[in-house]
Amino acid sequence: MEHVDVIIIGAGAAGLMCAATAGYRGRNVLVLDNAKQAGKKILISGGGRCNFTNQKVEPANFLCRNSHFVKSALARYRSSDFIDLVDRHGIEYHERDHGQLFCNDSAKEIVSMLLTECEWAGATIKLRTEIGKVSKNADGLFEVHTDKAQYTCQSLVIATGGLSMPKLGASPFGYHIAEQFGLQVLPTHAGLVPFTWHSEQKQRFESLSGIALPSTITAKDGTQFSEALLFTHRGLSGPAILQISNYWKPGEAISINLLPGKDARCEIEKLLNNSPKQSLRNALALWLPKRLVEALFDEALLNKALNQLVHAEREQLAVDLEAWSIVMNGTEGYRTAEVTLGGVDTDELSSKDMQSKKEPGLFFVGEVMDVSGWLGGFNFQWAWSSGVAAGQVA
Ligand code: FDA
Repeated sequence: MEHVDVIIIGAGAAGLMCAATAGYRGRNVLVLDNAKQAGKKILISGGGRCNFTNQKVEPANFLCRNSHFVKSALARYRSSDFIDLVDRHGIEYHERDHGQLFCNDSAKEIVSMLLTECEWAGATIKLRTEIGKVSKNADGLFEVHTDKAQYTCQSLVIATGGLSMPKLGASPFGYHIAEQFGLQVLPTHAGLVPFTWHSEQKQRFESLSGIALPSTITAKDGTQFSEALLFTHRGLSGPAILQISNYWKPGEAISINLLPGKDARCEIEKLLNNSPKQSLRNALALWLPKRLVEALFDEALLNKALNQLVHAEREQLAVDLEAWSIVMNGTEGYRTAEVTLGGVDTDELSSKDMQSKKEPGLFFVGEVMDVSGWLGGFNFQWAWSSGVAAGQVA
């Protein structure tokens, strides 16, 4: 058996960050991953440009059963710390809406940066390595059996991520290790994920595929996001939908404001005064794509002139435009989800260093735990912050 100080299972965002941090402390670090390539999710993230963090990261941008858990790690390794690292490596980036930071060129630069940091810190990375049995021996060391070699280590860091995108190698490995050592794992489900139509909705709205428009979407619990809404063949997507999917439960309606920033009643009254003979169809086409107007409203209603609409019809119209209530069939699931909600219960871990309270020397970092961020670079920031927190102690 070969002995190392720290074994990190998972060469993704959190695992690589943790490896570099522990390596710089002089720890002998080995990173194991069964994939052919390190940081595969980083490479495809942000449309290939990796939204690597956000200018403004707050605990409120995260979902976790214990809402205080993220505070310590986020405060000790901030988005500004990661931006400094990106700057030191000469990676150029730009800011998009809502403070999101993306590489100008390619997500490959973030992976190269992390691999360079690991190399400088003296951490070894072994890919294409299948992990077998993991146990703790009588000397209090972890034993990790792989298809290539057997290792013992003082600290074991689980950085195997969540279940989203199984075709990229996502696996429940981390949950199984947690359960093996007696840690509770909270039920998981897909997050930051598009919604799918019921069959009758599909017939009505499928032809709208490709339409994108600004919206404000509200979940049943009152959580609200103002971002783009996109119609797809399968259902609804776009940033607003991905964000609200984190707060949605099966069977619940979402409420969509199709005229964000406008007062529908006021706008309808204004049009009625200025062009009373205009058809409702043409009036609505001033604000919304014509195909959407025709799919949403009854033909006979659309053919009416504005001055033919009775007060109740105008009221209903305002409600439909500002609070279109729709119950979606479900989500596209882990196949296309960006994150996994739920996971290793944070009550089992120290918020300072991500170490198991029950099993000293066992750490969990990144998405494997019950911490998920909003869309906008928050999930990577959690990977960086939690990876550093564990790397400073492991
Ligand atoms: P991550 O999934 O990155 O790494 C886990 C590693 O463990 C992988 O290398 C995997 O091969 C390895 N592994 C798994 N099972 C194993 C096993 N049994 N044995 C050995 N190794 C194993 N976030 C963000 O902030 N900005 C963005 O732009 C995006 N964009 C984005 C796009 C898409 C399409 C997806 C799917 C996700 C995003 N995300 C994102 C989310 C982000 O990618 C995610 O939260 C982080 O990668 C999580 O980092 P981890 O290191 O925890 O897991």
